[in-house]
Amino acid sequence: MKLKYQFLFKRILYYFYGEKFFKRLPYDWSKYPSRIHIIQEIINLKKFNNYLEIGCDQDENFSQVNIKNKIGVDPKSGGTHRMTSDIFFKKNKDKFDLIFLDGLHTYEQTIKDINNAIQTIQDSGIIVIHDCLPKKIWNQIVPRLYGHWNGDVWKAIVEARTYDNIETFTCIADHGLGVILKRKNKKKLDIKNKDFKTLKFSDYYKQHKDFMNPVTYEQLKTIIQN
Ligand SMILES: C[S@@+](CC[C@H](N)C(=O)[O-])C[C@H]1O[C@@H](n2cnc3c(N)ncnc32)[C@H](O)[C@@H]1O
Repeated sequence: MKLKYQFLFKRILYYFYGEKFFKRLPYDWSKYPSRIHIIQEIINLKKFNNYLEIGCDQDENFSQVNIKNKIGVDPKSGGTHRMTSDIFFKKNKDKFDLIFLDGLHTYEQTIKDINNAIQTIQDSGIIVIHDCLPKKIWNQIVPRLYGHWNGDVWKAIVEARTYDNIETFTCIADHGLGVILKRKNKKKLDIKNKDFKTLKFSDYYKQHKDFMNPVTYEQLKTIIQN
């Protein structure tokens, strides 16, 4: 009986979301350092002074960030500025050393946040994006369905991988941390389908390394120090 309901559930999802692909990536997030640890280490290693977080919620990360100046933007709770990222970036005139993007987890909003962050980051700065590595199809379905929600942030990382003047990596930690540096893109992604929203989870699974450019935290530390 239980199997029958599971089968029905999957059929319904297929009907609504147009994709039936149930393989999963084997990431075990409990084995890797947290975003909180990594963000603080980057700040310390690079001697950064100015931090911006988009999407703060309960300040689980924001309250832990130890830095000279920090701004947190969220329309609902936490941080220091009660507004959406679009409004913040429109008004803002400051430059930041580290920008952590963790607002609305859709491709459309994330690519806007990435493009605005590129304009707002110092040349030597680093943009970090949360929730870039969904393990299974359900984690990335928009709108949110159940369980941990990465949304389809990963599609914005794929698009960023096609830009000329930034390098984009995904650190294997805490549900996937996208990392963008303002440098010539030495490993630019060549992809035929430029309509990034229409990419499927099966594309992400099968072309995982090309799409996401995954690196370990140890590799990331070397990359950002060179
Ligand atoms: C996953 S939570 C952030 C968690 C937090 N960064 C942390 O590490 O603990 C996402 C937050 O994004 C906020 N959010 C949603 N839409 C947003 C937008 N357009 N601009 C900024 N924040 C947004 C939500 O209100 C929510 O608090």
